[in-house]
Amino acid sequence: MKFDTPAATNPIDQLKVVGKATDRIDGPLKTTGTAPYAYERHDVVANQAYGFILGSAIAKGRISRMDVAAAKAAPGVIAVVTAENAGALGKGKWNTAALLGGPEIQHYHQAVALVVAETFEQARDAASLIKVDYQAEAGAYDLAAARSGATVAKGEPDSTVGDFNGAYAAAPVQLDATYTTPDQGHAMMEPHATIAAWNGDKLTLWTANQMINWGVKDVSQTLNMPEENIRLISPYIGGGFGGKLFVRSDALMAALGAKAAGRPVKVALTRPLMFNNTTHRPATIQRIRIGTTREGRITAIGHESWSGDLPGGKPETAVQQTRLLYAGANRLTAMRLAVLDLPEGNAMRAPGEAPGLMALEIAMDEMAEKLGMDPIQFRILNDTQEDPEKPGRPYSQRQLAECLRQGAERFGWAKRSPKPASVREGRWLVGVGVAAGFRNNLVTKSAARVRLDGQGMVTVETDMTDIGTGTYTIIAQTAAETMGVPLDRVAVRLGDSSFPVSCGSGGQWGANNSTAGVYAACMKLRQAVARKLGFNAAEPQFADGHVSSGGHTVPLAQAAKDGELVVEDLIEYGDLDKKYQQSTFAGHFVEVAVDGATGEIRLRRMLAVCAAGRILNPKSARSQVIGAMTMGAGAALMEELAVDKRRGFFVNHDLAGYEVPVHADIPHQEVVFLDEVDPISSPMKAKGVGELGICGVGAAVANAVYNATGVRVRDYPITLDKILDHLPEMT
Ligand code: MOS
Repeated sequence: MKFDTPAATNPIDQLKVVGKATDRIDGPLKTTGTAPYAYERHDVVANQAYGFILGSAIAKGRISRMDVAAAKAAPGVIAVVTAENAGALGKGKWNTAALLGGPEIQHYHQAVALVVAETFEQARDAASLIKVDYQAEAGAYDLAAARSGATVAKGEPDSTVGDFNGAYAAAPVQLDATYTTPDQGHAMMEPHATIAAWNGDKLTLWTANQMINWGVKDVSQTLNMPEENIRLISPYIGGGFGGKLFVRSDALMAALGAKAAGRPVKVALTRPLMFNNTTHRPATIQRIRIGTTREGRITAIGHESWSGDLPGGKPETAVQQTRLLYAGANRLTAMRLAVLDLPEGNAMRAPGEAPGLMALEIAMDEMAEKLGMDPIQFRILNDTQEDPEKPGRPYSQRQLAECLRQGAERFGWAKRSPKPASVREGRWLVGVGVAAGFRNNLVTKSAARVRLDGQGMVTVETDMTDIGTGTYTIIAQTAAETMGVPLDRVAVRLGDSSFPVSCGSGGQWGANNSTAGVYAACMKLRQAVARKLGFNAAEPQFADGHVSSGGHTVPLAQAAKDGELVVEDLIEYGDLDKKYQQSTFAGHFVEVAVDGATGEIRLRRMLAVCAAGRILNPKSARSQVIGAMTMGAGAALMEELAVDKRRGFFVNHDLAGYEVPVHADIPHQEVVFLDEVDPISSPMKAKGVGELGICGVGAAVANAVYNATGVRVRDYPITLDKILDHLPEMT
């Protein structure tokens, strides 16, 4: 199905199943511990051996000598794989560094060996017996120091509109401030894990992966084998946040280990290995300049961002939202990329916007204060209904102002004291903050197969993944709505490369595109059903498990009485995303209390008002947003990978040292979705929410801390040491 004109009224608009708050259909499996995650699939193939990965002890240089004799002789050891015996390996499109290092080392904890043994403990013990001699080389590990040598990244040119420098210089009110965000880790619950089994030259990987088809392609390129000989199976994933967009060393090393051992091998990354072996969100330095008229209209807006990555890597696209969020005739956005020899930087939940808005939305707060304006009023004054870089190109829907207005109403914004450090409750300094949330809505093709059997059961098969987001449920809702059956008459099978290629889970594009693909397949199944039943005249109605046409009503199951009906289709997009800017919007509101003596920051209330097209399942969508708000709170207050700038690695590489919020850190959270449908996005008229929820939260927290204390922190995370010396006198 080609989607190239705005969606008309269609079966989804019935909203009998879609749009209803619905429990996860996979919920009972998850809560009873019976949803099989990759590492636990003891039953899929017999005789599984255990692999343990050894990570490089240096960040940059070479292995001069490696002695694996003691490891090979250790109890239970079956094989040891290193770059020396692994054979020639290619490199997948999505990896910057090699997944198996040696002799060249590109980053700390890059895999240099896999030990395969009868038990996990034997493999781990033997790995500790491998002797590696390194020739370390000096590397670059400090973004601030490397900033001056940073260059324009390939494919990421500066963007200019009008005359930024002239307009900024002429602006009567100006802000020029620099903000920093640290490296962050995904810290998802389930570690990267894979079971690999060979059958002749065919390889099956039971793994945890967000993008099945990217994974197949990358394994094919890395192992130099045809795609059709590779099967990836990933039905349940314990969180990804971008860390599982691409196959990682667990998958490659399990495949190599299984080949070397001549039997299936399972590999999970240990938690201490994950932070340096896999990818992370790169740190940024961001300079923002805003010039306005005295009335607060933006005349010049400039956003430059510096970040680092390994050679061949990409910049953190932190200026992305600044190209679209606010009006202003003169604009400059630019990214500079420094070569750093830290582990590979890559996507983490809302790459670009998440750290970009952490800076931009503090700058907007600072600017409002300079102008003596309410920060919500300042944002609404500079709202735009068209792409500010391409005048005349409208937004498909843009309800940012409404999100902010409704949020202000619900949150009690009118009671805010604009004077910082002016509200006290005993020893607590109390403040509120606001920020705009923004994240693009991406459209990308997605396919599905649907089956109708003689019992009237509808089965959906697609290689789409559910990374904890609720994909199973919204796909079931889509099929139930379109085929006119109750939810329990739909079975959903996901995460298998033998199914049609979907959009996968990334960039908050999963919900809208994967369901649109299922909708396309179901519409085709409806045609097959009508043909089979001889309903040629009027468009048949599908409802309550029956099909009606021209006064006749028959059970849906009758169409499959001579055998299962199976169809496949995909959603493909025309150029509506060129004609219209498609984005999602939020207003984030936060109240904090800061201990006037210790500087301890406690969140008290959080509210997000979101506009993101049709909300397919308000229950799972709310869960996505509160999870993202929690992650935004972590980014604001605690998350930071500490860089050892001499040796080039993230020091706090475990969940004791890398702090993420726990229940006690998170207060009352409220999520409101504006009633919106977007007929430009797809036949589903939906958009994504999973990343929108994190976008802007950090700045709302920072602005609340400023309002509470009068201390403006521009370097995340906002830990108490950054405010303690500047707190007002407590009398
Ligand atoms: Mo997302 S960071 O594209 O999984």
